Amino acid sequence: MPLIDPVLLKTRLGTQAGRFDVDALAACDSTSSELLRRAERGAPSGTVIVADEQSAGRGRRGRQWLSGPASSLTFSLLWRIPGSAAGLSGLSLAVGVAVARGLESLGARGVRLKWPNDVLFENDRVNSAQLGDKFAKLAGILIELSSDRRGVQVCIGIGLNLQTPEAELAQAAAGLDQTLAGPVDRHAVLAAILLALIEVLDTFAVNGFAGLKNEWQSRHAWQDHPVHLLADGEHSRSGICRGVDDDGALLLETSVGIERILAGDLSLRAA
Ligand code: ATP
Ligand code: BTN
Repeated sequence: MPLIDPVLLKTRLGTQAGRFDVDALAACDSTSSELLRRAERGAPSGTVIVADEQSAGRGRRGRQWLSGPASSLTFSLLWRIPGSAAGLSGLSLAVGVAVARGLESLGARGVRLKWPNDVLFENDRVNSAQLGDKFAKLAGILIELSSDRRGVQVCIGIGLNLQTPEAELAQAAAGLDQTLAGPVDRHAVLAAILLALIEVLDTFAVNGFAGLKNEWQSRHAWQDHPVHLLADGEHSRSGICRGVDDDGALLLETSVGIERILAGDLSLRAA
């Protein structure tokens, strides 16, 4: 039996349960790969795949996402929208806002966002001037878009650590248990994030990222801090991180002024 019981989840989703069609699996390669295969066969908007275990969980650019059944929550949501992919550039940031809202609705503290697709935990008990020591990755977001004549199909994949991963990772990782005073209930967590997601996606569909920018900024981990930008893992440029604009582009202040940076293959690191 998978750890998520769809009937119990439905009760947690309350009046919004009808907007989701949830399938809980004990294992799969990747919830996003499985969802994309089902999308090809015509799965509707609101389809959710949640799995206890992934054999090929992935992040951006083929990077690995590591997770264990008891210590994490890995799921993907299909969202279909009419029209084209223009204007969807801030979507991974909007999804970050939804994850933060969902976790905060359960009482989580210290949830912060890092451009373009990371949810971090800020440990204010760490007394260090080094940004990298204070922040650890709590969740990752992977957005995959494709379009056809019916419109755009968006696969939103979210991996959340319920407990700090034991694996050696390139960057520090944290667990949701560090952000909450009480126990973590995986059904409540999944429901809270799904409910926040439909709220945020409804706003995004009308106003784009502009309607969510201030909320993203209020949780921005590295506002006004010195950062390095990496392109394909290599140092590309350094500057001061000045937040994001209405399209979700990063605003980096360098010696030549403010540069607008669109996600592409870029990664941000604390200087
Ligand atoms: P970027 O700034 O480009 O987003 P990133 O290192 O966060 O850089 P992603 O592709 O977003 O890269 O995320 C994948 C990375 O997340 C992997 O390289 C791995 O180091 C890290 N990772 C994998 N599993 C976990 C996990 N359970 N918790 C935290 N981090 C993880
Ligand atoms: C990242 O930080 O790069 C994003 C990681 C996204 C991981 C989630 S886990 C659920 C879904 N299935 C996957 O294979 N990836 C996403």
